[in-house]
Amino acid sequence: MKNIVILISGRGSNMQAVVEARIPDARVALVLSNKSDAAGLAWAAQQGIATAALNHRDYADRAAFDRAMIAEIDRHRPDLVLLAGFMRILTPEFCAHYAGHLINIHPSLLPSFPGLHTHRRAIEEGCRLAGCTVHFATAELDSGPIIAQAAVPVLDGDNEDTLAARVLAAEHRILPQAVADFLAGSLKTDGRRVLGRAQAEAGSRLEN
Ligand code: GRF
Repeated sequence: MKNIVILISGRGSNMQAVVEARIPDARVALVLSNKSDAAGLAWAAQQGIATAALNHRDYADRAAFDRAMIAEIDRHRPDLVLLAGFMRILTPEFCAHYAGHLINIHPSLLPSFPGLHTHRRAIEEGCRLAGCTVHFATAELDSGPIIAQAAVPVLDGDNEDTLAARVLAAEHRILPQAVADFLAGSLKTDGRRVLGRAQAEAGSRLEN
């Protein structure tokens, strides 16, 4: 049985999509949030999943907070640490500790639009396609080998909310599959890129 630890900061709909995918031979061992009132924590607890909240404001600095997170996460012996709407920047030490076992979902077609406000920026730039990316996380924000992407159209009249909703539905489709592919051992990387089957499938997956 593979253990997944999922980090969230709010709603947790991507975490929910992974739980509901019922990935064979895998369990969500812990949902951890930096906000004790994150809606996703309550949902996970209702499912009988272990939850924890660590408030980053209780720690002297980012390094101390990340060390506390590592201690909590490692109690659950994770095979995969999933960043699913976790809105804190992680230290290089944290990223190195889970290197190759740390996956992030980001609501843009990386390498376009790392960081915040991705949907607003895509609309402002006049993009006709937007989307989402699942990638191995590295110390550099929203970078690392790409595992899966889905594209959606930007429609006339879209605003940040309508585009976000369309992208979010795509996130919920590609994230559980990427997690399953990772846990099945079918994702190989050369350090910079993901090689092989999963990447080829992602390239042909155009959502509408
Ligand atoms: C998602 O769009 C995720 O890609 C981004 O923040 C949002 C979190 O949504 N990083 P949820 O908490 O998974 O519902």
